[in-house]
Amino acid sequence: MTELEKKRSAAPVPSEWTYAPAPEARDIVSLEERYGLFVGGEFVEPRSGEYFPTIDPSNEEPLAEVAQAGPEDVSAAVASAREAFENGWSGLAPAERAKYLFRIARILQERSREFAVLESLNGGKPIRESRDVDLPLAAAHFFYYAGWADKLEYAFPNRRPRPLGVAGQIIPWNFPLLMLAWKIAPALAAGNTVVLKPAETTPLSALLFCDVLRQAELPHGVVNLVTGDGRTGAELVKHEGVDKIAFTGSTEVGKAIQRELAGTGRRLTLELGGKAANIVFDDAPLDQAIEGIVNGIYFNQGHVCCAGSRLFVQESIYEPVVSKLKRRLQTLRVGDPLDKNTDVGAINSKQQLTKIEELVAAGEAEGAEIYQPPCRLPERGYWFAPTVFTNVAQSYRIAQEEIFGPVLSVLTFRTPDEAVEKANNTPYGLSAGVWTDKGSRILAMASRLRAGVIWANTFNRFDPSSPFGGYKESGFGREGGLHGLEPYLDFDGKADSFGG
Ligand code: NAI
Ligand code: MG
Repeated sequence: MTELEKKRSAAPVPSEWTYAPAPEARDIVSLEERYGLFVGGEFVEPRSGEYFPTIDPSNEEPLAEVAQAGPEDVSAAVASAREAFENGWSGLAPAERAKYLFRIARILQERSREFAVLESLNGGKPIRESRDVDLPLAAAHFFYYAGWADKLEYAFPNRRPRPLGVAGQIIPWNFPLLMLAWKIAPALAAGNTVVLKPAETTPLSALLFCDVLRQAELPHGVVNLVTGDGRTGAELVKHEGVDKIAFTGSTEVGKAIQRELAGTGRRLTLELGGKAANIVFDDAPLDQAIEGIVNGIYFNQGHVCCAGSRLFVQESIYEPVVSKLKRRLQTLRVGDPLDKNTDVGAINSKQQLTKIEELVAAGEAEGAEIYQPPCRLPERGYWFAPTVFTNVAQSYRIAQEEIFGPVLSVLTFRTPDEAVEKANNTPYGLSAGVWTDKGSRILAMASRLRAGVIWANTFNRFDPSSPFGGYKESGFGREGGLHGLEPYLDFDGKADSFGG
């Protein structure tokens, strides 16, 4: 135990905040012992013959075995997607395509509790979030893009939109089903077929989604699923039968994919990391801002590419903000993801926990001051207490690198100019937040912050009609909204306007 851990576990847990446990029943989920790959509308055994276990990160218990797709499996999935594209899907009346998407959306709503429980079991996120955020938004994405499927000619007037062909889609583990929806819904609405690879730590909701596809009677081969780790992803990227790659994940892998595709003419969109600035001016409604700060960085254990991980507080309100924030942290309930009272769940994997621990140790070594509220972390599983660093200099690693955990770095500023300069001082450019009473200041800040999404007096709000994506090392291309269709379409003589 480190000094800090000793202090934390010795401190009394505030008694006025104890609740009786309220566990969500998990028997709505029935798991197979072993899952194959979903190719051509059915589950098939992997030709690789390899499987690996997927676990519950809150207790390290194995949940099921999933296939590690090899090169032959990826080829079979791509061939199935091609066949479905050529012989049916691309020629289907757009209004018919829309019907399938509407069906998928409705089935997701009907089965939302089952999906929410599975998402929390396999990924460690609180059931409250899977239930109230991931599932409603995933269904909303299918509804939204279903509406566009037969209106593409109006969406892109005089540009003659056409589907690209087979889309290879690689997604991360922080919002497994939601990222699947972000990828599959626009691809299908635009008339493409898909080979999707979920992240190796969270494949189960994507596998359950294949059952939704069968229920919706989606034509075979329109969506294929290959599970496996980065090797499977790399096979999909280099496969010449794939016309477009859509990737969400680390900047490191995104750069490698961009190198691989350079000069091939195959299309690419990248949604990579972030190090968002959440900027609080002295005229902001403080209590509301505190809620936004907490939601900005502790939502989904901070496993959020657009997390508000750098808090910039105007110097004159530094003391009240930090003391209110620390007090609020003491009320966050860390623990069982399936308990309806839980605010902060389990860290997604051992690998991610190690990364968080390493960066937090670097923060302490560089001289930042650490605060963690008293809370007892479960013995088994992967856990990290909500953490705030003060006395942070811009050059510290915790102010520069994406931690992707429940760790906030607090910095200060005096003037709007200084806030802009510091906020933009990062290789990333995905999102930002501004808290102020003045509408004119919101607009002025928004025009100067180099970030794809800027929230004003709120944070981490998502809507399928609103495009999402980054600048600089946060990637290129937009997902969501009308913009999110462009990367899946070809136009007469014109490339899409958002890269890729
Ligand atoms: P990662 O980028 O390795 O994994 C994301 C997806 O890419 C997974 O499906 C993975 O299997 C796949 N992948 C891995 N290597 C690949 C390759 N060479 N070719 C094709 N696909 C490949 O991310 P990882 O290792 O899980 O997390 C590392 C860090 O990345 C995190 O700590 C976080 O900072 C960042 N990250 C950012 C995300 C975002 O939403 N922007 C999501 C996940 C991670
Ligand atoms: Mg990786």
